[in-house]
Amino acid sequence: MPLENMNVMLGKAKDGGYAVGAFNILDYNSTKAVILAAEQTSAPVIIQTSAKTVIFWGASAIISWVRQLADSSSVPIALHLDHCKDLDLIKNCIESGWTSVMIDASSKPFDENLSLSRQVVRMARPKNITVEAELGAIVGVEDDIHVKQQDAHLADPEQAIEFCEKVEPDCFAPAIGTAHGVYKGVPKIAYDLLEEIVTKVAAPIALHGGTGLADDVFKKCISLGCAKVNISTQLKYAFIDGFANYHNANNTEYNPLKVIDAQFNALKAGIVENIKLFGSAGKA
Ligand code: 13P
Repeated sequence: MPLENMNVMLGKAKDGGYAVGAFNILDYNSTKAVILAAEQTSAPVIIQTSAKTVIFWGASAIISWVRQLADSSSVPIALHLDHCKDLDLIKNCIESGWTSVMIDASSKPFDENLSLSRQVVRMARPKNITVEAELGAIVGVEDDIHVKQQDAHLADPEQAIEFCEKVEPDCFAPAIGTAHGVYKGVPKIAYDLLEEIVTKVAAPIALHGGTGLADDVFKKCISLGCAKVNISTQLKYAFIDGFANYHNANNTEYNPLKVIDAQFNALKAGIVENIKLFGSAGKA
């Protein structure tokens, strides 16, 4: 199927009480693992690229893998640019065929975040590209965005309402206490804040920092209204461990295709589990 933007899939997820998984890919093999996991579970899925990954491979290489895999797939697939501060890169992805982009101006003062996010919506909407925007500061490292514990802060509910009314994002990412990367302790999720934002804001909500959250935390956030769940670090671990574990167990065998296959299987197994947990299996 041709790539689609996030609107229909997130709208259905919000109404249906489940979430669509958004997985940060690293290369062709991980892209294939995400799409075949979605195929196996008949789920809509979001392929996410970090800004660094786009710069590393180039937009044209990524769009060609994703289109080639999506064309022979029967599930709805969106291609989304994750946390991006650079308007030129956002423009490049829009022109290259991404169907969705995230402007992350959350480190800027509120008015500047608002104005940059609106600028991206004005750039994307006429081309039918969806936009995710963020408010608050999510702790941890995502790509080249580093937020220290002392700088992290939750989204303010009044600002969230004003932000979403003025920006009209297709997806809203408020900081609610989750973190990017590996959790050092038990995360303290602001469920009340999430509930308040969901009731007052029209846009579907994205849950960032998915790796390492307990099953009951995912279920509660989704039941409260998160329609998109972001998973990145888990794929980084499966990518390296899937490769290394196979080689360690077969260290005299220099057959790269077998190692790549082991990596693929490790990536796909985790993604299939995520999709089932988020409730999107069977919703394609
Ligand atoms: P994790 O790396 O914690 O899975 O977070 C992913 C994310 O939120 C990407 O935007």
